[in-house]
Amino acid sequence: MNPTQLDAWKALAALAQTFKFDASRTGTADQEATGGPRISCGGVSIDFARQQVNAEVLTKLVELCEQAELKESIDAQFAGADINTSENRPALHSALRAPFDARPESVASVIEHELERVYAFATAVRSGQWRGYTGKSIRSIVHIGIGGSHLGPELGFSALASSTDPFEVRFLANLDGQAAIDALQGLDPETTLCIIVSKSFTTLETKRNADLVRSWFIERTGSLPAIAKHFVAVTTNLPAAAEFGIPEDNLFAMWDWVGGRYSLWSAVGMPLLLSWGEVQFNELLAGAHELDQHLRNAPLAENAPVLMAAIGIWNFNFLEAQSLAVLSWERRLRLLPDYLQQLEMESNGKSVDRNGTPLTYPTMPVLWGGEECNGQHAFHQMLHQGNRSFAADLIATIAPAHDHREQHAWQLASLLGQAEAMELGEEHSDPNRVVAGKRPTTTILLDELTPRTLGTLLALYEQKVFCQGVLWNINSFDQWGVEIGKRLAGGIHPALIGDKRLAGSQAKTQSVIDHITRSYSAD
Ligand code: F6P
Repeated sequence: MNPTQLDAWKALAALAQTFKFDASRTGTADQEATGGPRISCGGVSIDFARQQVNAEVLTKLVELCEQAELKESIDAQFAGADINTSENRPALHSALRAPFDARPESVASVIEHELERVYAFATAVRSGQWRGYTGKSIRSIVHIGIGGSHLGPELGFSALASSTDPFEVRFLANLDGQAAIDALQGLDPETTLCIIVSKSFTTLETKRNADLVRSWFIERTGSLPAIAKHFVAVTTNLPAAAEFGIPEDNLFAMWDWVGGRYSLWSAVGMPLLLSWGEVQFNELLAGAHELDQHLRNAPLAENAPVLMAAIGIWNFNFLEAQSLAVLSWERRLRLLPDYLQQLEMESNGKSVDRNGTPLTYPTMPVLWGGEECNGQHAFHQMLHQGNRSFAADLIATIAPAHDHREQHAWQLASLLGQAEAMELGEEHSDPNRVVAGKRPTTTILLDELTPRTLGTLLALYEQKVFCQGVLWNINSFDQWGVEIGKRLAGGIHPALIGDKRLAGSQAKTQSVIDHITRSYSAD
């Protein structure tokens, strides 16, 4: 299926002519947008009122979903069909957060078994029953992993961190030696638990950091067997983790039918489970499952992830919005843009369709974002007066977790003001002061930020990404593009340490290496 050949796509292309971003604000009244609905799922409301759509556009977008057989694809996802077509695998992350009876039979028991193991482990650590090799209970945690094996856990942890957290939790993702110094600073190995998370257990950054932390541990404890009390791993590659020295009982499974960036709901979420306990971690899963149920059961026209996906297509492919900004007026969600950059761009940054045929239309644009109101005093100038168009998700929490009510009212007023400005703009006799407006935004409000609403929010984005991938007819579940960087670094490292010289197409790289090594020898 080439979506551009569908009748609804062609009709949308015609409609878009009257909806083009109009920086000169000369649009006639009948070209004005009326916006989309507000949909609630659990404690999250998704408001499309400030999107540049009207009833006719929404009807055509729903027709596009029907003609692209989105409903059938949603059913296929939940049934465990091989929707990851380039790797012949299902994408069953939704099963991780479903109650036993709602999971596909093929994975129901294996998920249950692993959940029970990881819950038992977390309970032992939290209760102090699990002790370090000198008999002290665990007080700090170092989570080692990168990409999908890092971003979700750190987002969840920072979103709901509290002064009563039982552990000091550090995240070590980056290969930069400074990251390891920062992560280990002040920690006592006798009371530290290291969690190595790597689906493949071959990722350069994670392997090097795991080696570094193991050396740090052994140098200070002088005890190799002590690793059994201080290192656990989450991986599909159990033999490699065992070879690293982690005992079998400390290994927790991941599966090839869960992509790294969709894996928060498994043992990958261990820092959250350890910090929050089983009840709250189950709430995270329940919130995500609620969104999955909404996706499966709500009519397309009232379906939040479906509309986010379809309206996104309208913005990117028809109104030519060039990026998606995720702006959070909830400080605790300041890592959300980082998490979504991997989720959305690694999933849908693709140039071929599900059959490998090159695409003739754009797919995922750059997703970026930040913490508000800080952004208002930095990049909003470009948003309001720059001549590149964008779409934005504006996010906040209705009930804050603090007592500064006045402050919070100002925070929400700022979000609402920005939403108005982006939609309505401002006319002025001085062209330097004109704000064009007509920028499409979705306002997402969490009743409060809890494990449950966080689960709903993250699943909302996951399922939006899936629906958008279906509409673009791409495979959202592979990431072959990241392999090239890994391969090239492997070939360059020997040249950097002087073991070989690069030539041919790598001559420019060798020239930089010469520059670097000259600086070393000058030291
Ligand atoms: O960056 C590419 C990637 O393959 C991501 O998809 C993945 O989440 C990350 O690396 C980490 O991979 P692993 O969990 O295998 O260490």
